Amino acid sequence: MICGSKNKSYLKSQNLKIFGQGKLNGRIEISGAKNSALVLLAATLLTNERIILENVPRLTDIEKMRNILKNLGVNILDKNNTLEIDSKNISIKELPYKLVNRLRASFFCIGALLSKFGEAKVPLPGGCNIGLRPIDEHINGLKALGAEIIIEEGIVKAKIKDKRKKLCGTNIKLKCPSVGATETLIMAASLAEGRTIIENAAREPEIQDLCQMLNKMGAKIFDSGKEKIIIDGVNKLGGCTHKVIPDRIEAGTFLIAAAATSSSITIYPVIPNHLEAVTNKLQESGSKITIKGNSITINGKEIKGVDIDTAPFPGFPTDLQAPFTALMTIAKGESKITETIFENRMNHIHLLNKMGACIKLNKNVAHIKGVKTIKGMDLVGSDLRSSAALIIAGIIAKGNSNIYGLEHLDRGYENFESKLKMLGINIKREFKKRTLNDEEYKVNSETDEIPKFRAA
Ligand code: UD1
Repeated sequence: MICGSKNKSYLKSQNLKIFGQGKLNGRIEISGAKNSALVLLAATLLTNERIILENVPRLTDIEKMRNILKNLGVNILDKNNTLEIDSKNISIKELPYKLVNRLRASFFCIGALLSKFGEAKVPLPGGCNIGLRPIDEHINGLKALGAEIIIEEGIVKAKIKDKRKKLCGTNIKLKCPSVGATETLIMAASLAEGRTIIENAAREPEIQDLCQMLNKMGAKIFDSGKEKIIIDGVNKLGGCTHKVIPDRIEAGTFLIAAAATSSSITIYPVIPNHLEAVTNKLQESGSKITIKGNSITINGKEIKGVDIDTAPFPGFPTDLQAPFTALMTIAKGESKITETIFENRMNHIHLLNKMGACIKLNKNVAHIKGVKTIKGMDLVGSDLRSSAALIIAGIIAKGNSNIYGLEHLDRGYENFESKLKMLGINIKREFKKRTLNDEEYKVNSETDEIPKFRAA
């Protein structure tokens, strides 16, 4: 029997077979950041000149974004992890639903298209099944910059109002520090007339990466990484070469996997201060962390229960909440994990309980009593980071596990199983000849309570 959600999209024919009670050992290279690369690809729409983007991870989400750009008329040359992007021949300002569906970041193109071409039509976004994920902050900000926006039959139609040629700089105060909205508005404001000030802006490293690339392209953006970002609009943006920052979430996932198996590994290259909240919690839970230049070494020891509350950067990232919960299942003592960013990001809890964990879930707060061991099972991941959590659980567990739902994992972790294999984990991808039917899945009734979400 396979336990998982009732969503038929996971009925795929691949799974990861994990032989439990593994240990990690060695050095592993961290890929470029998915969330940075996605928004940097959107930002290439702002110029007619060539952008060379280095360290782009090979992921299905990136592939989807590339297809969206290609569909707009963008020419992309691919050399390993480097993309040469030429947006000078864009002919369409409309993103088709079938390409945008299930890639939330594609919505972030709206700011760049609107600002450069004066109009854009973008379907409401898809993405991970982790909550409602509204776009009001994007829409309100664009309206404040002088856009007229209507939503018709699931399409957001935006154009610069009053027959003006450019958006108009203004003061915007975000109600919540949304990463995506901050990125949309930075791109829109970079070609607007005059100064835009975004208050309560998100401070995530991916935003700083976007601003660094835009500034190389000739933008005038000040104080990225702070709560108040200032953007002086320019007439035109040019080409540049830019290297995507290392993926702090992938890095954190490997550190957590090492802690969970009392292993020692070194990850590189990373920007250690992007991971401070995570390394602090790992230290508090008993691991030894050594930072040397752009590498972090972890020596996993006995695991102690610690509490975490997810929070916008520099707080503990919501994207690592699920993997950290997997670690806490076998910690000594109790821990409390509070998800504060997304309302439906606890999909992994009932599956970890099936493996023998002792977790009580009260809305978005998980109370965990550490157990000595958990047992291997067949499970279905239902979103990107909960899939990573299940894989960590499978590595810790006694016995073997088969993890399904790899379409989520492949969205966000480059060569995950090969990297784990290189670190000594006995793991392999299996391809079944047929798709499993409903009978072979034991659908867990708890998942029926998950509210409907628009993102799917
Ligand atoms: C990005 C990341 C995602 C990460 C998240 C939070 C990408 C591609 N994805 O997602 O991996 O988990 O940041 O760090 O970069 N909100 C509103 N109105 C809006 C927009 C957001 O209320 O218009 C709310 C959301 O419902 C959520 C919170 O703000 O509760 C944070 O969302 P946001 O920061 O926008 O996440 P994303 O940019 O979608």
